Amino acid sequence: MPAHLGMPANAPDLPADAPLIDRYGRVARDLRVSLTDRCNLRCTYCMPEDPDHWLPEDTLLTDDELTRLIGVAITRLGISDVRFTGGEPLLRRGLEQLIAATATLRTVDGAVPGISLTTNALGLARRARKLAAAGLQRVNVSLDSINPKHYAEVTRRNHLPAVVAGLTAARDAGLAPIKVNAVPQPAHYTTDAPALLRFCLAQGYQLRFIEHMPLGGSVEWRRNAIVTRQQLLTALVAAGARLTAPPTERGTSPAELWNVEWGDLTGDIGIIAAVTAPFCTSCDRTRLTADGQIRTCLFDQVETDLRGPLRAGASDDELAQLWRRATWLKPRSHGIDHDGFARPSRPMSAIGG
Ligand code: 5AD
Ligand code: SF4
Repeated sequence: MPAHLGMPANAPDLPADAPLIDRYGRVARDLRVSLTDRCNLRCTYCMPEDPDHWLPEDTLLTDDELTRLIGVAITRLGISDVRFTGGEPLLRRGLEQLIAATATLRTVDGAVPGISLTTNALGLARRARKLAAAGLQRVNVSLDSINPKHYAEVTRRNHLPAVVAGLTAARDAGLAPIKVNAVPQPAHYTTDAPALLRFCLAQGYQLRFIEHMPLGGSVEWRRNAIVTRQQLLTALVAAGARLTAPPTERGTSPAELWNVEWGDLTGDIGIIAAVTAPFCTSCDRTRLTADGQIRTCLFDQVETDLRGPLRAGASDDELAQLWRRATWLKPRSHGIDHDGFARPSRPMSAIGG
């Protein structure tokens, strides 16, 4: 292999038809692709009000480069699902074309890949139909509170009605199941979490609470200041929700699901206890940043550059091998709960949620 490919150290030679397997036996099947680090919201746990740095334009992968790398992942590396993220992926002009190009690919098993989008839903009302027609199957919408004042507090913008309209349009376009991601806020969760749950049950959206992780943002992260799974469950039950305990096995899904009955409303709720109950042992994700770096873990301190080799003329085989070797070195776990944990150098908006 040419010297410009800069192999990560300490990875053995891996067979040229191997999937993305790591030292601990995990296999990555789920690719998260960040399309931009920019966003039209400023969620306090994600970004400062005035970020002083965006990725320079010439470091962003072009649509063609993205399509090529997604093709390598799906057709050679055993990836079965692609999720487009950001920043805010709807800010990327070519999104519909990227989705359409991904939908023409076939996995190593000959299947159409799963294609989903994680979005704040601003502008989704206008684009949901076009996105579905391009091949998008599902959306995850970030919505932390259904209270307009609290929503504006967290996001620093007054856009709640647009999000609600975006959710409705996604449902009308058949982008189901529609999931709502919420990071519970310490100041308001006892009232906001139950209200959001009732809204989601009534609309048929699947609510997923995510424990606040130490990634970027302008609010200080302290282990004992986050809203934990247990606090959340207690608040929901106190408000009147009847929750049925989850089965012990949660597979590769990081969310633990509870069945909910609340008066005449029924459905389920998921909690992603990334901090208090890490799911690293079953993690099946790999990430590509908007500037063409592989990140095997959200919290990894190391990235593997694919943009350089790609632009220097590497073949698909060579790119696939770089990805395999980077994956081999995926850390065992994020260690948020351990002494000596170091925050990753980039916020979620630059890594891809
Ligand atoms: N901790 C937990 N969730 C986060 N998100 C962004 N930053 C963090 C963080 N530090 C969430 C967003 C979005 C998803 C991609 O990740 O709210 O729903
Ligand atoms: Fe934007 Fe998502 Fe970050 Fe909020 S969490 S600022 S919606 S990228």
